Amino acid sequence: MTKEQTQREALADYWRFFAETECKGYSPLYEAITTACANSGEVMEFLASLSSHAHQPNLLLAAMHERVIQGLEPTLTPFYSGARAGHVGRLFVESVLASRDTLGQVLSSRFTQTNEIGRVATLAPALSVIPECDDLTLIDVGTSAGLTLHLDDCFIDYGSYGSLGPTGSKVRVQAQVLSGHPPLRRVPIRRRIGLDRNILDPSNSDDARWILACVWPDTGRLERTRNALALAAKFPSELIEGEALETLPLLFSSLEGPIVITTTWVVAYMNTEYRTHFSAALSAASQKRDIYWISAEAPGVVAHLPDVVSPKVEGPPPSVVGFVKFSKGQVSAARVLAHAHSHGTWIWWYDHS
Ligand SMILES: C[S@@+](CC[C@H](N)C(=O)[O-])C[C@H]1O[C@@H](n2cnc3c(N)ncnc32)[C@H](O)[C@@H]1O
Repeated sequence: MTKEQTQREALADYWRFFAETECKGYSPLYEAITTACANSGEVMEFLASLSSHAHQPNLLLAAMHERVIQGLEPTLTPFYSGARAGHVGRLFVESVLASRDTLGQVLSSRFTQTNEIGRVATLAPALSVIPECDDLTLIDVGTSAGLTLHLDDCFIDYGSYGSLGPTGSKVRVQAQVLSGHPPLRRVPIRRRIGLDRNILDPSNSDDARWILACVWPDTGRLERTRNALALAAKFPSELIEGEALETLPLLFSSLEGPIVITTTWVVAYMNTEYRTHFSAALSAASQKRDIYWISAEAPGVVAHLPDVVSPKVEGPPPSVVGFVKFSKGQVSAARVLAHAHSHGTWIWWYDHS
């Protein structure tokens, strides 16, 4: 086998794994599509010809979804809207191959920047763990379009367990509490800042369309994302574009009072060395005041957290919801608060934490 063939095979295995672990039991549409792509030598060859960041299934899925939203893929539209089922995989592959040049440009210039508003259902109880204070600053690192900064303006419905936020909000998120008693307390936040190496502007139509394109069409999240984008466009947040490691120290030096850092599906995109420096930056800043780090990330990426076996729940692998406190230059507490569906569909809270 040539080097190129081996690379294509490895990529196909990765796409099959994605279909099996991320899509199965959650998105039949994307399970069919990613399986068909994995089985198409031509699609794998096309992706392998691009830089490695474009190998990620979510990027091609978003690029094609954007074309569907733009009305450029009429044969796929009925499958994306749920009007038709079956045989979408073959049609998707044909559409990708027919638009290779245009897609290549999109895949080279865009990134996976899903801004998942459902994650507020996980963030809200996790923030409740922070000791009460009236001068808290929240910095959401890897904020994308800053949608989750608006968590207080969302109605988060935990079913019979209770709810948070204004009942009349158009941004409505439903989450099931599968275990434990997540605290539902509104945490006063004095200032909110979103930081990203590539800020997407919710009031810019191209950026807003890309955020929508990153949403998986058959998972019932498009409407709430549209509403969250409208909310964020109406009430703009303080969004700063920059690399986390370069920007955070400057921000820390300009802020007084305790700070909570949130990261949701961001650390997973940093390499091990970067993660170490990131953690060291938080630690250094805690010489001046306490720093709290609330994370919802893939297992194992926040090194301070103990290993906790995730509950067996059907669907994609859950996020680990972590709490790390830095005080006087050291980690003074670190625990797993919960496991949660990566889009906030359910939460499994650990009461002992
Ligand atoms: C998968 S998205 C998640 C967005 C958002 N946190 C959410 O949960 O919906 C990851 C985001 O992290 C940003 N990002 C990744 N590494 C970064 C870094 N080193 N500095 C700043 N932003 C970063 C990306 O640009 C992207 O917007």
